[in-house]
Amino acid sequence: QRTQVGIVGCGPAGLFLSHLLHRAGIESVILENRSREAVESTIRAGVLEHWVTDLMRGMGLGGRMDREAHIHSGITLQYGPNRFHLDVTELTGGKQVTVYAQHEVLRDLIAGRVADGGAIHFEVTDTAFHDVETEAPRIAFRDKDGTPDELLCDYVVAADGFHGPGRKAIPEGTRQEYNKTYPFGWLGILARAPISWHELIYARHEDGFALLSTRSPEIQRMYIQCDPADDIANWPDARIWAELHKRLEIAGNWHLSEGDIFQKGIIPLRSFVCETMRHGRLFLAGDAAHIVPPTGAKGLNLAVADVLVLSRALEDAIRHHRTERLDAYPATALRRIWKAERFSWMMTTMLHVDETESPFEHRIRMADLDFLSGSRNAQAAVAENYVGLPFDA
Ligand code: DHB
Repeated sequence: QRTQVGIVGCGPAGLFLSHLLHRAGIESVILENRSREAVESTIRAGVLEHWVTDLMRGMGLGGRMDREAHIHSGITLQYGPNRFHLDVTELTGGKQVTVYAQHEVLRDLIAGRVADGGAIHFEVTDTAFHDVETEAPRIAFRDKDGTPDELLCDYVVAADGFHGPGRKAIPEGTRQEYNKTYPFGWLGILARAPISWHELIYARHEDGFALLSTRSPEIQRMYIQCDPADDIANWPDARIWAELHKRLEIAGNWHLSEGDIFQKGIIPLRSFVCETMRHGRLFLAGDAAHIVPPTGAKGLNLAVADVLVLSRALEDAIRHHRTERLDAYPATALRRIWKAERFSWMMTTMLHVDETESPFEHRIRMADLDFLSGSRNAQAAVAENYVGLPFDA
């Protein structure tokens, strides 16, 4: 098989890239090791920056999102006994965020690619990048029946997540990795319950962070800070609700609605960046190159930002034989990545209880929140990042 751009990974980065390339008249093929059902049902975060929703509409893929998603114009923050509202829309001159689950975005993008006649091979195995230092890079794989196959490409993109083979195809000596692991994780649940509050609540409680989010009028998403090594078996539903009530219900006049918990799991929190994001004709995008902790929900948005830059660069290279933008891709993408890393780290450290921190640092976190609650300038900076930073020219 031959294609212009071979993409490994059918997540947000791979799918947005293949759509953007298609609109620029460039062919691509996506290889994915999971099944379509698994991709379309894996639970991730759910907040889209304003420009991501505009991009989806511009690609003709915003129909279901516009019917089903929730537009949010602010967030509620809590710390100790205090609660305040951050009016994101007013602070950003009218921008909003959209609460629409990542797997719903993926369903819409996969359906769109299939309708366009785009090629996505699910359940492939043994994916390996070859000859990426030449002008004829290729991706070897086995199709779902186990038959060995090969994709001959002009360029290859690893949108294959943190654990994929893409990053490791860049020689160790030519990449630098930056890592931070946090001494806490998130226990996330989905519950059949009515909406408890009209916007997301980010809460710092003395026993740990809690987040109230939503998926639909009937389904709610909530998270609590926990030990990343904890076993979900230690968390019967009653214990989860008790923690959520305690950490979220600090104002006496407000109550969290309970319901049937039908999905729960624990994830660790980490920050990670790989520099560079290119080796020859191999390019990294999304989680293959960087991880943010979930606080602030930047992961999907950052993956889409990578491939928006990359698609324009590939278009220049393939259609106009100009490679300046492709050469600049790692530097261009990394400027935005580090700002998202900074914001996600800042929201995480400010809102979580870290037993390894000194009492001094603990007081600083509380002062951060106290300052944020009273300063319009500080709130504007958070709001600007929350809705999504503008793109560099
Ligand atoms: C959700 C996840 C986040 O990390 C966040 O900051 C806000 C919302 C969510 O899953 O709904």
